[in-house]
Amino acid sequence: MKILGIETSCDETAAAVVEDGHRMLSNAISSSVDLHASYGGVVPEIAARSHVEVIIPVIKQALADAGTDWSGIDAIAVTNRPGLIGSLLIGVLTARTLALTKNKPLYGINHVLAHTYANFIDNTPLPGYRLAKEPPPSPFLSLIVSGGHTQLMFYKSQADYTLLGQTRDDAAGEAFDKVAKILGLPYPGGPSVDKAAAKGDSASVKLPKAKLDNPYDFSFSGLKTAVLRAAQQLAGKDFTFPSHDLPKVLTSGQKADLAASFQRTAVETLTDAVMAAAKEYRPKTVVLAGGVAANQTLRGDMQKRLDVPLLYPDIKLCTDNAAMIAAAAYYQHQPAADPYKLAVIPSF
Ligand code: KG4
Ligand code: ZN
Repeated sequence: MKILGIETSCDETAAAVVEDGHRMLSNAISSSVDLHASYGGVVPEIAARSHVEVIIPVIKQALADAGTDWSGIDAIAVTNRPGLIGSLLIGVLTARTLALTKNKPLYGINHVLAHTYANFIDNTPLPGYRLAKEPPPSPFLSLIVSGGHTQLMFYKSQADYTLLGQTRDDAAGEAFDKVAKILGLPYPGGPSVDKAAAKGDSASVKLPKAKLDNPYDFSFSGLKTAVLRAAQQLAGKDFTFPSHDLPKVLTSGQKADLAASFQRTAVETLTDAVMAAAKEYRPKTVVLAGGVAANQTLRGDMQKRLDVPLLYPDIKLCTDNAAMIAAAAYYQHQPAADPYKLAVIPSF
């Protein structure tokens, strides 16, 4: 079964063809990230306009790369929640139209849950991917850490899952992005903080870890504020945030120390929750998903503490893509949507 996945929830316009939920035949992505860089974050209106311009070429590319035309496609899967409403609308209206005109079943997919299924892609004729040898065995835990979401899920089987906990405020990736802004590091913040942290001393600045009633919930807002306070202390002056002046008075060594201390605390926070869940649920494996799964310290530190294998997708499948949307549709076994009615839902 070949499913065409379509993804437009944020700033990536993506389409991919995946066979039987695990063999990725194509993975076309066009990102508007460069258009947002000078604003320090995604501008919803710019993202939506960019999706309109490229969605049809990206879908054509995904079909061509997969070596198929519409006759080879069995179903269409599209992200319809959560995300930026204008961005979601472009993907969903395109998918609804194609489902009707090409006469294909249509599936509305939850973007956050779909991130997990990037770990199920274990085969591709496309060059340049490092994939797992097989899908993760059940039961497994999945930590979904992206710019918009932080969710810890328990999967009894591929299609049977429970939400154990989530962030109460900022998402993990959002915290990386905001700390990058405080330190004057380029957008997107995750890779910049990761790079700066490699040159810093992670024990140099003491930062707090949030304690919540549910051990599987997260909070990153206090941590971000603590980084700002520590930066102001090092600079010897209070700046109102967002300030372009604060990064100018910090040395690159101080920035590296702050980045490393923040990263260590964020990684420990995520790992503590996974360890507590691993003790209670006894999974066979733990999978990472979402943009922050690209973080080397997170991968390394978590695997050191776990006594089961830690799996994560190829870096190109950690960040937003449509292959995970097509794979999710295959494994989730949900009923087909009405192509006249499939709605967009901006919230999780
Ligand atoms: O999954 P994703 O592409 O988009 C969302 O669905 O949000 O995740 C993007 C997020 C951004 O916040 C980015 O800063 C973060 O993932 N990220 C990282 C790294 N690479 C990307 N965070 C930490 N370390 C990284 N190496
Ligand atoms: Zn995402």
